[in-house]
Amino acid sequence: MTTTIFDDVSRWRAERLAQIRSGTTLGFVPTMGALHEGHVSLIRRSRAENSRTLVSIFVNPAQFDDPRDLANYPRPLEKDLALLEAEHAELVLLPDQAQLYPDGYRYRVSETQCSRTLEGAHRPGHFEGVLTVVLKLLQIAQAERAYFGEKDWQQLHLVRGMAEAFFLTTRIIGCPTVREPDGLAVSSRNQRLSPRDRQQAPDFHRALSSSPSAGVAARALERAGFAVDYVEDEDARRIGAVRLGGVRLIDNVPLGEPR
Ligand code: PAJ
Repeated sequence: MTTTIFDDVSRWRAERLAQIRSGTTLGFVPTMGALHEGHVSLIRRSRAENSRTLVSIFVNPAQFDDPRDLANYPRPLEKDLALLEAEHAELVLLPDQAQLYPDGYRYRVSETQCSRTLEGAHRPGHFEGVLTVVLKLLQIAQAERAYFGEKDWQQLHLVRGMAEAFFLTTRIIGCPTVREPDGLAVSSRNQRLSPRDRQQAPDFHRALSSSPSAGVAARALERAGFAVDYVEDEDARRIGAVRLGGVRLIDNVPLGEPR
């Protein structure tokens, strides 16, 4: 099956209406592109659980607190489309800024508790940008299920909370973190690590999963040369963010996992 690209939101909405009338179930995987094995795992899960799968690619400026990070964000569109074709993700939504933000980002979704801690404390406005674009995308997609990675634990938690708070009908499905063989969580940011930092990066996951407490993990990471933004235990999870040679890495592990 070849991939159909929808760069026009109203054309997609008409297509989805026809699908709904014919009882076609849809799984939705929102992304910012630069697709890798983590995204692929979400797409495969969606393909297994729904008759069609829609993947969106949109680098959402509203969720970047650092303009340099937005400017440096990789946008390998041709490669992404080839990967989607190979994965038989037959429907791709490629909206632009004007289509997604007809309001010029005047209307926003804000959450007043969890969005202010951990990532939210270090990246002001980040989750407001995430929740706003995810609400828009979920409304456009009109899917039965939407797939999010546990890698972005706080994002998953907040999207779930939003779906409940606003009575959204799409089920939010969390998917396990895909890791490199050495334990490093797969991320588009990993490509920006120097060869030496890439060798050291798996120590992040190792310290999170093998330390007796969050404080011990943070100190071990500082000693190993990571700049630690935070390591905290919350909701039976150990969640952390570090910087290594200017590259920011986030990860989390379940607490009480065999060590
Ligand atoms: P992006 O970083 O492209 O990630 C898209 C989805 O892939 C997210 O749900 C993320 O948690 C998941 N993902 C990324 N790396 C993963 C890994 N190693 N294992 C499993 N899943 C992984 O997250 C975003 O985009 C944006 O914030 C978005 C939700 C699209 C809103 O703009």
